[in-house]
Amino acid sequence: MKNNDMNMHVRGASIFVDDIVTPEGCLHAALYTSRVARGIIHSLDISKAAAAPGVVAVYTHRDIPGLNQVGHVSKDQPLLAVDKVEYIGQPIALIVAQTRRQALLAAKLVTADIEQLEAVFDPRVAFERGMIHGQKSILVKGDTSAAFAKCKYIVQGTQSTGPQEHFYFETQRALAIPEEHGTIKVCASSQSPGAFHRHIAEVLGIPQSKVEFDIRRLGGAFGGKESTAVWVVAPALAAFILKKPVKLVLTRNEDIFTTGKRHAYEYDYKIGLDAEGNILAYEVILYQHAGACADISIAVLTRSLLHASGSYRVPNISVTAVSCRTNIPPNNAFRGFGVPQGTFGIEYAITKAAEIMGVDVTLLKHKNLLRDGDTLPYGMKLEKVNAIKCWETLDKQVNIAQRYAEVEKYNMTHTDTKRGIAVIPVCFGISFAQTALNQASSLVNIYVDGSVAVSTGAVEMGQGVNTKIQIIAANTLGISTEKVRLGTTNTLRIPNASPTSASTGADLNGMATKFACEELYTRLKKFAAKHLNHNNPDEITLRDNAVYINNKKTELDWEKLVAAAQWARIDLSCHAFYATPNLHLDPKTFIGRPFAYYSYGTSLTSVILDVRRGTYVFDGIDVVHDVGQTLSEAIDRGQVEGAVIQGMGWSTIEQIRYSSDGRVLTGVNAYKIPDIKFCPSHFKVTLLPNSDNPYAVCNSKAVGEPPFIHGLGAYFAILHALRAVRKDKELPSLPLTPEKVFMYIHS
Ligand code: MTE
Ligand code: MOS
Repeated sequence: MKNNDMNMHVRGASIFVDDIVTPEGCLHAALYTSRVARGIIHSLDISKAAAAPGVVAVYTHRDIPGLNQVGHVSKDQPLLAVDKVEYIGQPIALIVAQTRRQALLAAKLVTADIEQLEAVFDPRVAFERGMIHGQKSILVKGDTSAAFAKCKYIVQGTQSTGPQEHFYFETQRALAIPEEHGTIKVCASSQSPGAFHRHIAEVLGIPQSKVEFDIRRLGGAFGGKESTAVWVVAPALAAFILKKPVKLVLTRNEDIFTTGKRHAYEYDYKIGLDAEGNILAYEVILYQHAGACADISIAVLTRSLLHASGSYRVPNISVTAVSCRTNIPPNNAFRGFGVPQGTFGIEYAITKAAEIMGVDVTLLKHKNLLRDGDTLPYGMKLEKVNAIKCWETLDKQVNIAQRYAEVEKYNMTHTDTKRGIAVIPVCFGISFAQTALNQASSLVNIYVDGSVAVSTGAVEMGQGVNTKIQIIAANTLGISTEKVRLGTTNTLRIPNASPTSASTGADLNGMATKFACEELYTRLKKFAAKHLNHNNPDEITLRDNAVYINNKKTELDWEKLVAAAQWARIDLSCHAFYATPNLHLDPKTFIGRPFAYYSYGTSLTSVILDVRRGTYVFDGIDVVHDVGQTLSEAIDRGQVEGAVIQGMGWSTIEQIRYSSDGRVLTGVNAYKIPDIKFCPSHFKVTLLPNSDNPYAVCNSKAVGEPPFIHGLGAYFAILHALRAVRKDKELPSLPLTPEKVFMYIHS
């Protein structure tokens, strides 16, 4: 089954926040934000803005009835600045006007006297000055010093990866509507129903029960709507004070300039191998460029730390990770949640090692791949490892060694163009590393006419989680999918929901839904036995919209069964709860079992480089990816394709530039995400056959983020081609823009 929203999406009929019919008298909000990266606010003049045409109110931190705080994990992020600013784009005042245009124009009339202080934009400098969020994290396994002493090859150096703009189609937005008894309803584009619900209540100073938070679907999120609640809380604040509906919609450039991005990382790495090419030791320091507030950075960094060994067995490892506090907007979650950055370090180190050893890097990778019985750095012993299986499935399709030899041969005989390939293995832990977040609930209501409505805490953002839950509910109840609808994600129906992130949306909410449907199934089975005068309910099954006894279809169909059960006063509604079992992680040593299982994959990316111009074209990518037993092949393929292309964009053309004073320079006209022409002409996705997974709903595996890692192949394939041009220079950092490629070749 395909994504249920697909037909509406392509016709423009799907409803997003800005498509909700605007209530009469709805006002529009805009933010006045800091133009200074770090400074002390001496005074603020809102008088001109307040007197501007159409303006209804201008609010500052003084007007906040509750807590002036939207910090996601630490309370270090005021909704509206008080006496200091720490990044360009930090909200200072909230303007409310009759129209959005009037609000945006009035925001330009606010003036502030801000004494500028020295700001820091370099994570390494921030680290040297002790400007970090939380503590330095260290994960150690074995003894790297002793192991390095035994190594034949040791390679060390530094490298860096860049930030990435989420570029969700729907920018940050919310509509807040005051209702009776001092309550308020907020419809928003948010991945975090539970957390944002709480932020709204805290800022307004009212109990959560008075706030109804409702999410229908998102026009994309990719992690960028998981933590920062500013753009949802701000219109709620205005609506609450004014007792009028208020909408806030960020313009594209406001969104790019003021919201967080994927974290850039700096790496100090050292890898050691024996004469046969076995990795004996790996040391890495990860400097995360976090920005001004802690936001969700430490959680992202922990995931990088836990994935520092990538898909490889590394007997001795030491990972140090620091979240560096710099004066840019607080960075946040982005598809992969630190895994792409963590994995990059070891992929790069192995690539350099192969170069020093003069061997084919793909042989080195294959030799060191994880296998059953290996133990990961945090002490988790692996079983059902599909790393080799994915590699070999791909190898059968593309013949990696032959492809590598062909490229080498091509490069010997061509000077105007060079080819490059890269094979990237994926090993991605599934579950929130923060154990407490691995919980979900579901409410399933069967109506007297046999139709079914399911509500969960999952947020639909294009990834198809609602369709997957619809399939799970229908299959469990033995009815057709058309009978099942998914409700909006609403805090009155489902409280305290974890964010839909870490790719766990279907795993958690799907399992809770399965539990609720199983309970209803049992109730209905028992009732059917009684109703049909059959004494053994265990011989009854519900499937294909009908009741069967010992596999023989009865006269009783689903509709009649439900109607009769309701009349007999059977409860046709069920709430169920799921918490992933056996998860734990020591927050100090990082030893534990943070993940329920792993998602695996292997891909081969192929590029052709124009040496004169520095441009490149990806002519092929072959991906084998492990999704367990797929819940929906169409959706999973779509997720793999989208993630791969997004990863390729991060690796190559997506570059954010900042001015020397900390302003984002790359607005919508200068920031390029992959388009259809960027997509490789050959793009083959194979879902790993015969994979099963006892640790997630219906034997499936999470798919939202893991395939992003394949996108790293774009960077490494270009490196391969570049090394065929010249070897006498340091390798450029990620992203490998055509400009960087050109400079590498020609300067
Ligand atoms: N797919 C689409 N179309 N849009 C998105 O915003 N977000 C990704 C991924 N796939 C995203 C997407 C991210 S970052 C995550 S964590 C997962 O979807 C979240 O959904 P899931 O847990 O249901 O897979
Ligand atoms: Mo995804 S980055 O975990 O929202």
